[in-house]
Amino acid sequence: GMAPDAPAESYRLGPLEYLRRSVIEVLSKEYGDALPEVVDPMVVFSSRPEFGDFQCNVAMSLARQLKSKPRDVAERLRVGLEQKVAGMCATPLEVAGPGFVNFRLSDGYLASVIRQMMSDPRGKLNVPEPPKLQRIVVDFSSPNIAKEMHVGHLRSTIIGDTLCRVLEYLGHTVIRLNHVGDWGTQFGMLIAYLAEVAPEALTGERPPDLGDLVAFYKQAKKRFDEDPVFQNAARAQVTKLQSGDEASLRAWRLLCELSRREFEKIYQLLDVQLTERGESFYNPYLPDVIERLERKGLVQVDQGALCVFLEGFKNRDGSPQPLIVRKSDGGYMYSTTDLAAILYRVQEDRAQRILYVTDAGQATHFAQVFQVARRAGFFDPAEVSLEHVPFGLVLGDDGKKFKTRSGDTVRLMDLLERAIELARHDLEQRIAEQPGRTESPEYLERAARAIGIGAVKYADLRTTRTADYRFSYEKMLSLNGNTAPYMMYVFTRVSGIARKAAGLPADAEVCMQELVANCASEQQLLLCVTEPAEGALARQLLRFPYVLLDLERELMPHVLCEYLFELSQRFNQFYEHCPVLGAEDDSVRHSRLALCALTGYVVESGLRLLGIEVLPRL
Ligand code: ARG
Repeated sequence: GMAPDAPAESYRLGPLEYLRRSVIEVLSKEYGDALPEVVDPMVVFSSRPEFGDFQCNVAMSLARQLKSKPRDVAERLRVGLEQKVAGMCATPLEVAGPGFVNFRLSDGYLASVIRQMMSDPRGKLNVPEPPKLQRIVVDFSSPNIAKEMHVGHLRSTIIGDTLCRVLEYLGHTVIRLNHVGDWGTQFGMLIAYLAEVAPEALTGERPPDLGDLVAFYKQAKKRFDEDPVFQNAARAQVTKLQSGDEASLRAWRLLCELSRREFEKIYQLLDVQLTERGESFYNPYLPDVIERLERKGLVQVDQGALCVFLEGFKNRDGSPQPLIVRKSDGGYMYSTTDLAAILYRVQEDRAQRILYVTDAGQATHFAQVFQVARRAGFFDPAEVSLEHVPFGLVLGDDGKKFKTRSGDTVRLMDLLERAIELARHDLEQRIAEQPGRTESPEYLERAARAIGIGAVKYADLRTTRTADYRFSYEKMLSLNGNTAPYMMYVFTRVSGIARKAAGLPADAEVCMQELVANCASEQQLLLCVTEPAEGALARQLLRFPYVLLDLERELMPHVLCEYLFELSQRFNQFYEHCPVLGAEDDSVRHSRLALCALTGYVVESGLRLLGIEVLPRL
């Protein structure tokens, strides 16, 4: 059931997009040629409930160009819009303040949109398919071989995975690339060192584990910095490796394989899919990159090194800064590999959008690489967008650099296992407090893992991406506040209520998607959102698709966390004021049950996009 007179277009497009188009139509009709060529209709969700559901701010920005007063523009807009929103918004529309037009959805229309969300045959809650489905490369995680994966890589992995999940959900084709640091001078050093102190490690007879390797790496680095003879040996080793010497290659492959196995364990625990395409993959393309830069006349020789002088990056003395693309010894740079990667991703992967999820410290690197790639014509900026997606540092609970008590860097595996262990402890305690409740060891295992990993992910994602983030087991595992355990608990509670109201046994593992679909298909379902708490909940449910569209553009996962937290608060208000099981009649009960089921399904869908598993019981 659609609300009787609401325009069909508003259902197809969704209310926000419909209002945007209507504003443009009315403006063109009223002002015609006086309008600028491109007009942003400036319709947004209202910042405060007293301003209605949506507000249009365009009158203020256009008035001067239209040689008119903002209030007058707003008034003409209001009159023109009133016919277009009949049956959809409460009329008369309101012109407020200096020239805002406010829209308030009618209860009937709100109920229809909610019902439409519930009956989405794809189970995708009415999230619209983007007008242009893209091929998107997400370059994330990307640890370095022979080094321990650190908390920065953890952030990249968690944020990158969420961005991939959201973009996939919207229907884009996502290529998840792990640009591992598997090439470079560190291998010369490491192989030269191992050849000296542990040759059996290089042949595969007695392979070291990653911990040993990291220790060897540190020793090798120390040796390299102190001993010029060893420096030469390491450099010679790099050249051997680059020229394809079989024994060196074998040693290199072995080192990569060892690291890969360690990384894989972490990806499994985090449930993250990645395709490895490390730096070494691009080796064969590096000479071609140089040739193309030369052909464009971009390259200059500076003390034997090949450089591209950058626009807008200046040295202290005001001279342009160079980006070195080949060193005087013929070696290539991290940047050269990234240039080759851009070319490959554009030409072979046919990517239209490329996201790089790294710490903010690499912002300059990417700005420079993107500039050179653009000037070299490696991509057409009208067709392809390259975006660095920076994030802040991970700090300890004390606000200082994240370290173990003894001052060492924290091993990722230890960190994740600790989170799981603490989650298990909390869970066991909660279970012990509930008389008669027992859980199988398998369930405990699964739940502790979901909570522990979920807590680490959520704590990271809820922080504004670009801000530094303080790591605290205690805060992230707390059941109170904006945390994973809290949100997971909201799901178990909401789904428990929905299950009970639907007459299903308490221990049934219900599929929320099915429950929602069943509610929606019921003939006698008359959704009513007339109680203020029902209306407030419905309005928040309605926002879900827009949160994802915002995320698609802005790439800020905390927006989704905030949305879910706000949803849970509105649900609590609703549950407090609007009895579900004890509703006054069947029709109201059905309606409230439907709102519960939909809330449960939205929470589940949202958490899944954050890479967090929901549980039937907590
Ligand atoms: N391996 C790099 C690091 O650990 C990150 C690589 C990011 N991706 C890229 N295409 N440069 O800092």
